Amino acid sequence: MTTISPFTLPGDSAMMQPDFLFGVATASFQIEGDGANRQRCIWDTFCNTPGKIADGSDGEIACDHVNRWQEDVELIASLGVDAYRLSISWGRVLFADGSINQAGMDFYLNLLDALNSLKIKVFVTLYHWDLPQHLEDKGGWLNRDTAYAFADYARIVARALGDRVFAYSTLNEPFCSAFLGYEAGIHAPGLKSRAKGRAAAHHLLLGHALAMAEIRREAPGAQAGIVLNFSPSYAFSANEEDVNAARLAHEYHNTWYLMPLMQGRYPDIINQLGIEERPPIEPGDMALIQTPIDYLGINYYTRNVYRAGGELGFEEVRLGNVPRTAMDWEICPGAFTELLQSLAAEFDLPPIYITENGAAEDDMPINGAVHDPMRLDYLQSHLLAVHRAIEAGVEVKGYFAWSLMDNFEWAEGYRKRFGLVYVDYQSQQRMLKSSAKAYQGLLAKRREAN
Ligand code: NOJ
Repeated sequence: MTTISPFTLPGDSAMMQPDFLFGVATASFQIEGDGANRQRCIWDTFCNTPGKIADGSDGEIACDHVNRWQEDVELIASLGVDAYRLSISWGRVLFADGSINQAGMDFYLNLLDALNSLKIKVFVTLYHWDLPQHLEDKGGWLNRDTAYAFADYARIVARALGDRVFAYSTLNEPFCSAFLGYEAGIHAPGLKSRAKGRAAAHHLLLGHALAMAEIRREAPGAQAGIVLNFSPSYAFSANEEDVNAARLAHEYHNTWYLMPLMQGRYPDIINQLGIEERPPIEPGDMALIQTPIDYLGINYYTRNVYRAGGELGFEEVRLGNVPRTAMDWEICPGAFTELLQSLAAEFDLPPIYITENGAAEDDMPINGAVHDPMRLDYLQSHLLAVHRAIEAGVEVKGYFAWSLMDNFEWAEGYRKRFGLVYVDYQSQQRMLKSSAKAYQGLLAKRREAN
C-alpha cells in the first residue's frame, strides 16, 4: 500500500491555526436520494425531461445519504474536518401547503445533533437549487411571491434548527439558479430568456434579503450570509476591446450578484440591456438587498477568458494547451488568489469562507484504492492560493473542499466525480481516494502543531 503525502501549507500559515475552519461540502439533491419522501422539485422534473441530463440519471437514490447518514457522519469525522456544509431540501421539510413535514425535519435534526456531538460545525445552505415544483408551476423565481415563500421556509427551518447551526447561507450560487436555469437553459427549470434570467436573479436576491431577517430573528447566535460563485474573467489579449469584454463579462456574471449585496445597485452593464430585459426592481428592493451579511461564501473552480464580440460585447474563448479538469475547466490557482485580492480591493467585504473548491477527475478504483493525482495537485495548489491571498491581507476564515463524496453533478449526472471519497453507485460503498487521505494528513498535522 502506498502512503499518500499530506497536503502541505507553511507551518506559520493562518490556515494552520486552530481557528481556521477546514471542511467538506455537499448538497441535498446531489446526495440524499429518498425521493419518495419529499415533494417533487424542479430538478426531478428536469431529470425526467429527455436529453437534459448527460447520462439520463436522476436524484431518486443518489448516494442514498438519507438511509446512510450515520455512516456518512463517521466518514466526515474520520477526515478530521472542523466543519461540514450541507443543504436542506425545501420539499423534504415542508409540505406543499407550507406545513412542516416532521419526518423530514427530524432527518436534519438527527444529522445535526450527531455532527454537533462530534464538535463538527454545521454550515447550512437553505437553497441549493431544489425548488419545489409547485412553486415553479406558479412561475418559480420569475414570480416575486417565491421570494416571500422562501423567507417563510427560512423562518421555519431557522426556528427548528436554531443554534445547531454555526452558519446559515441563504442561497448557493444564485448565478447558477438564475443564469443557468432561466437564461441559458442548461439547468432546471431550463428556460432560455435574458429577461427571465435577470428577473430570477432579482427575486433570488430579494429572497435572500427577506430570509436574512428571518434567520437573524430565529437564530441570532448563528452566522448568516450567502454563497456566490465566481469565475474570474480574463482578457484574451491586451487589446482595449478584449480588456473591456472581460470587464463586461465580470459585471454580467460575477458582480451582478455581489454589487447589489454590497452596494445596493446592479453593475453598469444593466444600462446595456433593453428596458424589457432589466430586472423588475420595486421601490425599496435595492436597500433591502444590501442588508449586512456576517460572511461571504465564495465558490471557486476556474477562470474564463473573453474577447470582444457577442450580443453584450463579450464572448468566451476556449484556450488550448492549458491543464483542465474532467469538467473541461481550466486549472488556474493563480486566478483564485487574484480573485480574492481583487474582490477585497473592490468591495468592503465581510470575512470570507471558501465554501467550495475542487475538481472532477475520471476516478477508477484499482485494487481497492482510488488514486486521483490530478485532484491532489489541484487541491494542493488551490490551498496554497488561499494561503497567498491571506498573506496579502484578505480575511479568509475557512475552506471547504467540494465534495465530501462523488454525487449527482447536475446536468452531467453521475459521470463527473468531484468527491474526496469515491462512491460505487451499485453497492453504495464509499472509499477514501488519495485526496481524502492527503486532506486527512493535513488536518492531522495541524492538530499536532496546535
Ligand atoms: C457548484 C455547486 O454548488 C455544486 O452543486 C456543484 O456540484 C459544483 N459547483 C461542481 O460543479
